[in-house]
Parts: sequence; C-alpha cells; structure tokens
Amino acid sequence: MIVLGIETTCDETACAIVQDGSIILSSIISSQIDLHAQFGGVVPELSCRRHVEVIIPIIQEALKEANISLESIDLIAVAYGPGLIGALLIGITTAKTLALALNKPFIGVNHVEAHLYAAIMSHPDQIEFPCLGVVLSGGHTALVHIDSIGKYTLIGETVDDAIGEAFDKVAKLLDLPYPGGPQIEALAKNGNKDRFGFKPGKVKGKPLSFSFSGLKTAVLYALKGQNKTEKIQLSEQDKCDVAAAFQHAALTDIVQKVELAANQYVCRTFVFGGGVTNNQQLRHLIATAMPTANILWPSLGLSLDNAAMIAGLGYHCYLNKGKGDTLDLEAATRIAF
Ligand code: KG4
Ligand code: ZN
Repeated sequence: MIVLGIETTCDETACAIVQDGSIILSSIISSQIDLHAQFGGVVPELSCRRHVEVIIPIIQEALKEANISLESIDLIAVAYGPGLIGALLIGITTAKTLALALNKPFIGVNHVEAHLYAAIMSHPDQIEFPCLGVVLSGGHTALVHIDSIGKYTLIGETVDDAIGEAFDKVAKLLDLPYPGGPQIEALAKNGNKDRFGFKPGKVKGKPLSFSFSGLKTAVLYALKGQNKTEKIQLSEQDKCDVAAAFQHAALTDIVQKVELAANQYVCRTFVFGGGVTNNQQLRHLIATAMPTANILWPSLGLSLDNAAMIAGLGYHCYLNKGKGDTLDLEAATRIAF
C-alpha cells in the first residue's frame, strides 16, 4: 500500500511517499527556520503563508523522487493536529482536495503519536509490545504506555513547558539563535554541569509528570539576578556552564522518570520520539542508565518534523479502522492521548 503523507503542523512543510508503513520512497522537508530565526521563535501567520507557497512544489518533488504518479497513491494521510490552527488547515485542505480529486481514501494522523511511530518505523523488526513511548519535542513532553499501535495510555506529561521549548527559551536567554536545542547541546560540551546546581521540577502527587518552568526561571535568576533586571556580563565559559547545568538537570529528569515508569509498567521496548532525541547526551545518558533495555531512536531525518512518520502511521490507522476518515475531519490544535 502506497501512502502519501503531508505534515504542516508548525514550521516544516513536508511530504513523503511511504510503502507499507515503513519503506520510505521519498521524504521531502522544507524547513522555515530561516523565516522565523530573526524573530527568535515561530510566527504563526508567517508559517501559514510559507506553507501555502511551498506545499504543492513539495508534493511534486516527493512524487518525482519516489518516481510515482499521483494515480498510484493508495491513501492520503495528513497530520490533523496538534499544531498551529492556520498551519494545520493548509495541510488538511490540501490532503482532502487530493483525496477528493483522485477518489482515494483520506486519513488524519496525530502528529505526537507519529513522533513515536518514527522510532518504530526506523526499526520495524525490533519493536516488542507493550512498550513505553517517550515524546520529547518542541511542543510536547509525555510518557505513554503503548499496548499496540493505536492503543495508548498517557502516564505522564508536562504541566507547563515542553522540554524542547525549555531548551529554546534558555537559548534565547543566552542570546543564541532559534531553534536553541542544538546550540545548547554544543555549548554544554565545554561547560561545567555542576556549577549552578539547577534542579528539575517535581509535580506534587504525580511522579511521572514533568515541569520545566521552574528550571527555566532558575536559569533566568542565574543570568539576570533575583530581580531579573541586572545586566550580568557573561563570559563564553559562563554561557557554556549555564548550558551544561541546564541540560544536565533537564535530561537527568527525563532519564529518572523513564526508569520510574519502567519499574511501574511492563515495557519490553522503549520508543523515543521528537526533535530533542537528536541530543547525543540524552542518548548517552539513557544508554548508560538502561544498558540492557531494547531502546529505539528515530533514524536520521525522522526525529524532527517530517511527513514519512505521518504516512507510516497513516497506513496503520487506516488498517486499524478498516476505512478512511470522512472529509469533514477538522483540524485539532490539541488532541488528548
Ligand atoms: O519534534 P520537533 O521537530 O517539533 C515539534 O513537534 O515540536 O522538535 C523541535 C524541538 C525544538 O525545540 C528544538 O530546539 C529541539 O527539538 N531540538 C533539540 C536538539 N535538536 C532539536 N533539543 C536539544 N538538543 C538537540 N540536539
Ligand atoms: Zn513535531
């Protein structure tokens, strides 16, 4: 079954052609980082306009690279949420239009669920259920117990910032360009993680939930004093130390909560998804903490936002439901697991 997937939830416009859920025939991603970097974060209105401009050429490029005609597509899959409403509408409207014009089935896919599926499709022979899904992206941080593809129980999530968002906000405090995650990781390599003693947040009564806003505020105090207005001159070494201490606090928090979940639930595999999984220090800490665990990471090109994970998961959603969605499916800025 050949699936055309479309992704426009935030600041990437992407289209991919995927066969049988995991064979990627093409995956084209047009990033808008250049557009948003000057504003230090995603500007929704600009994002929508760019999606409109590039979506058709990106679809054409994906078909060309896969050497496939539109008529040979069996299913159109699209991320219907969560995301920015205007951005979602462009992908969904394009997908519905294609489905209608070609008389092909159409299916809406949850973008966050697709981030977890990205690691599964990267290693389709290694997944064993039940497993623990760990979503670490710019918009979401969650622990999900997975019985099978499509059967999820949310067991922990952030009560404030997502982990990628915290990386981006701390990077902004350090005057680093957007997106800040990779910048923080690079600086942290030369920093002293023990200098500031930052602590990750605890959520009362919910040991598997996350909170990063206190950690972000601790960084703000370290940089600008308790009244948040002092102009403390930072040396390059100071910046590296702040990055290392922040990253250490945030990542060890993730590792500890993954271990805690592993003690409470049967988890035969650990599936990580989202842009923060690019962080090599995270991968190192997890590998060290759980040396014998079956751990799946998304392969290159599948960790940040992409359409291959949408097409891949779309295939399973279609098989699970036994039919496509109707064309009145609406964009959803939030979707509960
Ligand atoms: O999953 P993603 O592409 O977007 C969302 O769906 O939100 O993730 C983007 C996030 C950004 O916050 C970015 O700073 C973060 O992933 N990120 C990283 C790294 N690479 C990307 N965070 C930490 N370390 C990295 N190497
Ligand atoms: Zn994403």
